[in-house]
Amino acid sequence: MNTHPLVPFLLLLASFITTITRTLAAPGRWDLLQPNIGVSAMHMQLLHNDRVVIFDRTDFGQSNISLPNGQCRNDPTEQALTTDCTAHSVEYDAISNSFRPLTVLTDTWCSSGTVAPDGSLIQTGGFNDGERVVRVFKPCLDSTCDWVESQTTLVVRRWYATNHILPDGSAIIIGGRRQFNYEFYPKTTATLSIFPFHFLSDTKDPNENNLYPFVHLSIDGNLFVFSNNRSVLLDYKKNRIVRTYPPITSGDARNYPSSGSSVLLPLKPPYAEAEVLVCGGAPFDSYAQAKSTGTFISALTTCGRLKITDTSPSWSMETMPTPRVMGDMLLLPTGKDVLIINGASSGTAGWELAQDPSYTPVMYRPDAPAGSRFELQTSTTTPRLYHSSAILLRDGRVLVGGSNPHIYYNFSNVQYPTDLSLEAFSPEYLSTVNSNLRPKIVTVSSIELSYGKQFSLQFSVGLLDVTGLSVNMVPPAFCTHSFSMNQRLLVLQASKVITSADGTNEVAAVAPPSAVLAPPGYYMVFVVNRGIPSEGIWAHIQ
Ligand SMILES: *[C@@H]1O[C@H](CO)[C@@H](O)[C@H](O)[C@H]1NC(C)=O
Ligand SMILES: *[C@@H]1O[C@H](CO)[C@@H](O)[C@H](O)[C@H]1NC(C)=O
Ligand SMILES: *[C@@H]1O[C@H](CO)[C@@H](O)[C@H](O)[C@H]1NC(C)=O
Repeated sequence: MNTHPLVPFLLLLASFITTITRTLAAPGRWDLLQPNIGVSAMHMQLLHNDRVVIFDRTDFGQSNISLPNGQCRNDPTEQALTTDCTAHSVEYDAISNSFRPLTVLTDTWCSSGTVAPDGSLIQTGGFNDGERVVRVFKPCLDSTCDWVESQTTLVVRRWYATNHILPDGSAIIIGGRRQFNYEFYPKTTATLSIFPFHFLSDTKDPNENNLYPFVHLSIDGNLFVFSNNRSVLLDYKKNRIVRTYPPITSGDARNYPSSGSSVLLPLKPPYAEAEVLVCGGAPFDSYAQAKSTGTFISALTTCGRLKITDTSPSWSMETMPTPRVMGDMLLLPTGKDVLIINGASSGTAGWELAQDPSYTPVMYRPDAPAGSRFELQTSTTTPRLYHSSAILLRDGRVLVGGSNPHIYYNFSNVQYPTDLSLEAFSPEYLSTVNSNLRPKIVTVSSIELSYGKQFSLQFSVGLLDVTGLSVNMVPPAFCTHSFSMNQRLLVLQASKVITSADGTNEVAAVAPPSAVLAPPGYYMVFVVNRGIPSEGIWAHIQ
């Protein structure tokens, strides 16, 4: 065969150029999973069967998927349609990439949720006829399960409240519009009242907003509650504020409509300290400016970090590469990465109040040296503005959906149409270049874990890095309005790896010592080898 003498050289050049572009390309990749699931993913919750319960609101107008079994809702108080035969909730199966409609009849708009110790989603409140409803979704392996709604179960209306699971397995429901108090679920004679929480009225903005406060369960059993620019530690049992933290540096607002986001950074053995990260948001007058004059002010570029267990804590401020409001923050299974995704770079949350979608996610690495913690990721082309969401899946991908900045579904003649799609963002650790480092869990001694007790995991891996191995546990979070309720990550105390003759590796890990650190329920357990996580397995602790 006669080839031109230049061909080998050109091939070499081509591969060289490919290598360069690969090196220069931003990390992570996007895949469109579903162009249209019928509803807009305003709220998302992964359950331990790898299916995601997704819902928006019943008064958005006609969705793009019919209610099961030819049902219709008739609701004379409904503001969009008094008869609506479409569904406003679906179950998405992350394994088969398929979905089915669910039946939710009362309004779930801007509600909150928690997964109970038995793995059922307990979702609370909403709007109008749904504001005091508690809805339970008990997952099943076939397609027979659906929502069960119980009317007027909450003591007061909960619209834009934040929930958190507690060490005893119950849920606390905090705040909501014009609710400066909290209550508990399940309802027993002891939980039929509400408890005042003046901190919420003290921190509201001029429009009476500080909705969806950021709530994290600290290692001492108290709740860290962050509202706009202030934060406290709440002893919910005694109804007492036990600590008041300094206001976050820069007087701007971080809660709805100035929606920033927040995570409790990974908790590591010996679990002696806890640190909170708050990123993004908008200046106080951003909402008024967008609403009255159509001026979209640049969102905040800062993140604040606070060691909430320090004796004299102070906020340490860092600057993101881009401004962001309505971003979602996710703890990734590596235990070393916080993904900041979705949102906009100007305006605020609310109808038609944001511009300049944030197409580019940012990775934040809490353990990296200050000044080199942020890294821009591959961009999407889909705007994910108000009412978008993002959650971690067991295989390490991030499921992204939603965006509807309009009062009803609006698919045409608008700048940012209502979005019914689902995408997956796959962080760089899922790239095939990392295949050799990716562990695969083969067996686990038991998926029923006990507090403080050892369990063992057997795994295979191409290239084992004994010094860079960890075992991490993550519960599935309830995501809505840029905040993931109940999100936490526990790095477990792990033994040295023992490799047997057949090449199988075994690591012994100690389950978290208490329900304060890991409230009861289902968790995804990951083995991480030199920063590359395995696919998780579901385990239960109680
Ligand atoms: C969904 O949208 C498609 C395309 O516009 C339409 O043909 C279909 O009837 C819609 N389905 C429902 C249930 O609204
Ligand atoms: C915090 O917000 C309030 C408005 O609620 C504002 O008056 C105050 O100046 C802000 N605090 C700081 C430290 O900037
Ligand atoms: C969609 O938005 C356009 C432009 O604002 C408006 O004219 C139309 O009435 C909206 N449609 C619905 C269903 O709200």
